[in-house]
Amino acid sequence: MTQQVTLRPLISRERITARVSEIGQRITQDFAGEPVMLLGVLKGAAIFLADLARHITLDTSFDFIAVSSYGNQQQPSGEVRLVKDVDESLEGKNVILVEDILDTGLTLTYLRNLLLARRPKRLKIAVLLDKTPRRLQPVAVDYVGFEIPDEFVVGYGMDFAERYRNLQDICILELASEAV
Ligand code: IMP
Ligand code: MG
Repeated sequence: MTQQVTLRPLISRERITARVSEIGQRITQDFAGEPVMLLGVLKGAAIFLADLARHITLDTSFDFIAVSSYGNQQQPSGEVRLVKDVDESLEGKNVILVEDILDTGLTLTYLRNLLLARRPKRLKIAVLLDKTPRRLQPVAVDYVGFEIPDEFVVGYGMDFAERYRNLQDICILELASEAV
């Protein structure tokens, strides 16, 4: 048996660019005149953060965190482990948590609570994609790129087994097992 992978385009690079630019402008307005720290969740949000940052015309810094979730895609456990913490203190700062996908909501709920305990001045959340039908835990997010259906997607930073992060368009990944 080999696994046949099919990639079906869902969101084009042009639509991504236009939407990321709009979010950057909104952030620029919402934090007018104040510095912001973009806090990316590795690795999936790295490309979104890099593009978003260039549409924000404020004094902007970056930091990154990495988490690993127990369980799997079908059965998330809700238990999240912090693999890499921030380098800088968040206290008194305007922090925008930048994440690729809001799926069950378990990861962002964990991160939100963790980061609020560090006493930022403001904490906002920006997600590129929102899979609303999959939500197990409600999370209030401030900036959303696109609502998407319950499909597994790759590209623009998002992976399947570490592959496809470099695709410029966001694609639905379909796996079919084939007897050979
Ligand atoms: P959750 O909201 O805690 O379920 O987890 C969201 C995380 O799961 C995201 O940050 C992604 O890393 C991963 N994830 C969820 N759906 C997808 C997908 O369709 N493609 C790639 N990664 C996904
Ligand atoms: Mg992620």
